[in-house]
Amino acid sequence: MSVADRIRNPALLSRVMSADDAAALIPAGANVGMSGFTGAGYPKALPQALARRIESLHAAGEKFRINVWTGASTAPELDGALAKVDAMETRLPFQSDPVCRQKINNGDMHFIDMHLSHVAQHVWFGFLGKLDVAVIEVVGILPDGRLIPSMAIGNNKTWLDQADKVILEVNTLQPESLEGMHDVYYGTDLPPRRVPIPLLHPNDRIGEPYLHCDPDKIVAIIGTHQTDRNSGFAAPDVVSNLIAQHIIDFLQHEVKTGRLPPHLLPLQSGVGNVANAVLAGLNNGPFEQLTGFTEVLQDGMLDLLRSGKMVSASATAISLSAEALADFSANIDYYRKRIVLRPQEISNHPELVRRLGVIGMNAMIEADIYGNVNSTHIMGSGMMNGIGGSGDFARNCYLSFFVTPSLAKGGTISSIVPMVSHVDHTEHDVQVIVTEHGLADLRGLSPRQRAVSIIHNCAHPKFRDALLDYTARAWRNAPARHTPHLLDEALSWHTRYLRTGNMSAP
Ligand code: COA
Repeated sequence: MSVADRIRNPALLSRVMSADDAAALIPAGANVGMSGFTGAGYPKALPQALARRIESLHAAGEKFRINVWTGASTAPELDGALAKVDAMETRLPFQSDPVCRQKINNGDMHFIDMHLSHVAQHVWFGFLGKLDVAVIEVVGILPDGRLIPSMAIGNNKTWLDQADKVILEVNTLQPESLEGMHDVYYGTDLPPRRVPIPLLHPNDRIGEPYLHCDPDKIVAIIGTHQTDRNSGFAAPDVVSNLIAQHIIDFLQHEVKTGRLPPHLLPLQSGVGNVANAVLAGLNNGPFEQLTGFTEVLQDGMLDLLRSGKMVSASATAISLSAEALADFSANIDYYRKRIVLRPQEISNHPELVRRLGVIGMNAMIEADIYGNVNSTHIMGSGMMNGIGGSGDFARNCYLSFFVTPSLAKGGTISSIVPMVSHVDHTEHDVQVIVTEHGLADLRGLSPRQRAVSIIHNCAHPKFRDALLDYTARAWRNAPARHTPHLLDEALSWHTRYLRTGNMSAP
């Protein structure tokens, strides 16, 4: 199928051009809003053409950088290609690319790590400046100019509304039969005119299946035929299976006590291998007729939909391994009845998360004994990926889980520490911490009670004594007894690893 078959508006056919020609339309210093969320639905040709152009300009001694805004993470063809040639001055709101990460951590580019539900409204508020160009992957263009979204919606509605110029990538490899899976809500307004979002059930459709775009703003259309990132997941191992089992046992207990209904409440699952493994665990678990209200639909949730354990899932992106994608494409009519893709300001909307009573399950880098969670920073200074949507969900959830293996870096680092080296989720937003050793239910506990529960239930036995010793001395010698800390020692916990390669070393 040629790109012309996907452009049902004849007037727009004249704007089809090469990626190199389209890249020449982006000026230095531009704020560029690109599609893409968790390696799905990102533009594939334009960023690489732009990287080639910028590389040759830099070689000729001309400084040329842009600011790149997306939905969330993209892929080597976008973040990797642009980071490699130092094309980005500022990047927001999330990334997970190794080259990009390296540039950020070397101080070569600025990264603004944002709650994903905030991005669109911060652009409307004018907090981030003017959006110059939108570069959006779509599946097709309707006769009236409306756009069929691709595997992710992310911030595309906002980028198309706000940008002066629009460049479209029509990807003929993305199935046309995605049409109808999306629900783009156009009812948002700015305070003080905002009204409640009329979504009462996780799978309600409150908008329309297409993105609006003023055809006069479309300056270029590029045809592509290329797959998404399609990263695989590590098969669940002993550790992630144990974490999943602790969560399932806890949820069963909550149902028994009447604090959760038998079919639970809508589930949100974060990114990463452990989060995916928890969903795999639910597929073998006792719960039926589950629903999903999440930001990214990964393999684990697709499995739940396929097995019938989950009846519907709401997200903003579908990010699958190659095997899961093959199943999705072969059974797209089945999945279209069960999946709704929304703009990320709706999929992650704090008011909806609170009202629907979502159960949030997110992975973390480390937690401290008082329940503060670090999701983003390695050793307090280096950015891993970003906070993503974890804060949108955690603070507003009915129940908020944070999961991690108890050890990192080959067993030399404890994921439970006296004081986290960076705080993304405060003790007030974290209800349940889970490692392979067990689960700490922090609801209704004071800081010192939380410390006892976290150390005994979640810390690896080889670090437990060191953590208990710390708390005992802190409770004796700290300046106050509410959240007792020996600051010198708490802050030096991580530097011990940097000095000796092992946190337990004296
Ligand atoms: N100290 C130092 N490094 C640590 C660590 C710790 N306590 N815990 C993990 N790491 C490192 C790992 O070694 C690994 O690094 P490597 O790739 O160099 O080996 C990296 O962090 C990722 O760890 P991994 O065990 O592979 O975890 P994951 O794939 O489950 O991802 C997060 C975990 C926290 C990085 C990931 O979930 C994330 O980015 N979360 C934030 C965003 C988010 O929650 N979004 C979801 C909202 S829907």
